[in-house]
Amino acid sequence: MKIAFANSGLPDSGIVCVGVMKGNRLTESAKTLDAKLKGSIKRAIKVGRFEGNLGQSVSIPAPAGTKLDAVLIVGLGEVKKLDDLAMQSMGGRIYSAVAKSGSVAVTISVDTLKACNLDVGQMAAEVATGARLRSYSFDKYHTKKGKDSQPTIKTLTVRGAGAAKARRLFASMDRVADGVFFTRDLVSEPANILYPETLAKEAKKLSKLGVKVEVLTEAQMSKLGMGALLGVGQGSIRPSRMVIMQWNGAAKKADQPIAFVGKGVTFDTGGISIKPAGGMEDMKWDMGGSGVVIGLMKALAGRKARVNAVGVVGLVENMPGSNAQRPGDVVTSMSGQTIEVLNTDAEGRLVLADALHYCNKRFKPKFMVDLATLTGAIIIALGSDRAGLFSNDDKLADALSNAGTAVGEPIWRLPLGDDYDKMLKSEIADMANISGGRGAGSITAAQFLKRFVDDTPWAHLDIAGVTWSKKDSATVPKGGTGFGVRLLNRLVADNYEGK
Ligand code: BES
Ligand code: ZN
Ligand code: ZN
Repeated sequence: MKIAFANSGLPDSGIVCVGVMKGNRLTESAKTLDAKLKGSIKRAIKVGRFEGNLGQSVSIPAPAGTKLDAVLIVGLGEVKKLDDLAMQSMGGRIYSAVAKSGSVAVTISVDTLKACNLDVGQMAAEVATGARLRSYSFDKYHTKKGKDSQPTIKTLTVRGAGAAKARRLFASMDRVADGVFFTRDLVSEPANILYPETLAKEAKKLSKLGVKVEVLTEAQMSKLGMGALLGVGQGSIRPSRMVIMQWNGAAKKADQPIAFVGKGVTFDTGGISIKPAGGMEDMKWDMGGSGVVIGLMKALAGRKARVNAVGVVGLVENMPGSNAQRPGDVVTSMSGQTIEVLNTDAEGRLVLADALHYCNKRFKPKFMVDLATLTGAIIIALGSDRAGLFSNDDKLADALSNAGTAVGEPIWRLPLGDDYDKMLKSEIADMANISGGRGAGSITAAQFLKRFVDDTPWAHLDIAGVTWSKKDSATVPKGGTGFGVRLLNRLVADNYEGK
């Protein structure tokens, strides 16, 4: 879908979308169109139960005598409450209402609204961003594409004063959406297609944008002593990989970087501690954390963020092959700490142990944020809308929480503490990879990671509940969500780019 901006005026073809405020107060463009259409808009409002509330909409076929296809009347609610996220949601809902309508073009008219905190240029950019985010689909494996299931809309134009500003703002938001789409693609891809080597190949594509991408082989990781990560991969015929991505966009090239680390288990059978069959197909998206890190690097490079950022992803397939590690095996991590693998299904933390330590040692970053579909327990605790946040640094935790709220990707902090740390005690090694009891599963997992970050400010996002969605929402169609890309992009933009 092509997205364009134009300064003002109503279109003479396609679907046109106009806003109506709470209490059915018409915006200027709604008034103009209503006059042109001899009162059709006022009439539609009257006969329907439309009240101008946010989220409401009513569609009317354009009356004879115009070349328009239809008019979509959209409720704006209370104007003083309209913010960037509300505008994005509106764009997403408009897209989904018109996408398969049969029309090829839609125009959204935005008006200057006095009581609103957003100027009309930003409104236009946010609406367009919401529409773009909602327009994602992953349908490459449908060979028989039913005519009715395909979107018909080819162009979306947002009209309103301030098109130049809208274009400028949208250019950067559009690059972030590229990153989100890349993550969604990676997360949606099945595990026979996407495995460590092919996922590394996907990451390599970022070099076109100026990202330096290195791929470590098993031999190289073995030399570095990454016994924790390699132990997870050894039950699969697919060799493990680690990918290191560097974006150096800061004015000072030598600036200490910030770092993002991702769990990339391209399929998690559980290994010898094998998972039950029901729902196991979900474990193709156990590489979601790495998908976010790769998508984020794409977003940062795409919009030329003025920051030095590093992305490190540990890529393995957790299979119960004849060479698989066994419950009770002891592995030595790159940090030198030994781990008793009591449950081979608690593999994400083993991968991250080596990825975090490697990243910290090599780059000495300002901070590290890791993302992982780490525990089923986080879904029990927080459900599917909030990710879990764990951190050894209050400032970083607050900055992350604020960024999450700002972009509509909320996160919720859970505690860490020595009492939890003790639960990882092992009889034979420095630690076990699971705790004895059933309680606090997400916390003990985070506590395990904490042992591999030294004193570097660090945060862990457990994204097991938010990586895949079973239902459509305004800007996120069901499937891979890309949760985390916009959040971390915002963290960078608000705190680390210097103005
Ligand atoms: N990849 C899973 C966690 C997961 C579960 C992600 C459901 C998404 C949806 C992880 O590797 C795992 O299996 N964790 C175990 C840990 C347990 C063995 C301590 C879990 O959560 O049951
Ligand atoms: Zn697992
Ligand atoms: Zn896993």
